[in-house]
Amino acid sequence: MIYGFIGLGNMAGAIIRGMYKSGAFENDTILGFNRSEKKTLKLKEETGLVPCQSESETAEKADVVILAVKPQMLPSVLPRIVPVMNKNKLLISIAAGKNTKYYEDILGIDEPVVRIMPNINAKVGMSATAVCGGRFCRAEDIETAKKIFSAVGEVYELSEEQFPVFSAIAGASGAFIHLYIDALASAGVKNGLSRDFAENLACQTVLGSAYLTKHSDEHPIELMDTVCSPGGTTIEGVHTLKKLGFESAVHQAIDAIIEKDKKLGS
Ligand SMILES: NC(=O)c1ccc[n+]([C@@H]2O[C@H](COP(=O)([O-])OP(=O)(O)OC[C@H]3O[C@@H](n4cnc5c(N)ncnc54)[C@H](OP(=O)(O)O)[C@@H]3O)[C@@H](O)[C@H]2O)c1
Repeated sequence: MIYGFIGLGNMAGAIIRGMYKSGAFENDTILGFNRSEKKTLKLKEETGLVPCQSESETAEKADVVILAVKPQMLPSVLPRIVPVMNKNKLLISIAAGKNTKYYEDILGIDEPVVRIMPNINAKVGMSATAVCGGRFCRAEDIETAKKIFSAVGEVYELSEEQFPVFSAIAGASGAFIHLYIDALASAGVKNGLSRDFAENLACQTVLGSAYLTKHSDEHPIELMDTVCSPGGTTIEGVHTLKKLGFESAVHQAIDAIIEKDKKLGS
């Protein structure tokens, strides 16, 4: 199989490195084209990526074309690949906010299109990635996409209507976690810890609690209760967060993301 990436930025770089490290694509070829050359050469050196000279060369040579440019670049990139696309090629796009119909309409043929929503944790093999197929997509196209994105984390097949909520919970909320880690670390600094040590403690605790919750049969609130001794210190902190509207703030933030996503027409 020949995979062709158009755009070799943060996400594509993470996916290609993941594919390379997984060893599952050793008998395949990964091609790529990026607007500027530096990222291409780095990926060539690290993963054996085969550089192409243009968007159309990449699409023409590939069996699976992966669009990994920013959404605003699509109106200029898509017309360059339309002439070389055909029903036997699979088009995969990771662009946020563009539905499968958008590509089908521009391509104008019965082209199989798969839409993907990964997250930046792909960089460490921990993405939560959604996949859905367009009108002309076959089961094997979904399997192809799942194989690629399994190299950088977990993959879930969803209906396209669920993409906005998925993007909020599995994508954008990563920024909340960074904000939380920073707040926790600076609270540590305020109380006398060094910045590096406090940040490391915050990360380790978030990692550990996420791992425990994911691998436990207990509800998150039950897990919380196990560390809240009656009349103890932890319940004081939990009570303070609740009083300040912690849960309501999270709900409102997620709703705001979904609302904005709708306005942008996902
Ligand atoms: N980052 C995330 O967390 C995330 C999560 C989910 C989905 N996505 C989606 O993933 C896509 C890529 O995002 P990203 O964060 O990887 O962005 P990025 O780092 O800016 O990468 C985009 C790359 O596209 C290249 N490019 C621009 N126009 C091109 C063209 N005509 N032909 C070939 N390459 C071109 C840019 O080249 P230069 O080097 O010249 O700038 C850049 O390297 C976006 O559509 C985004 O919505 C991203």
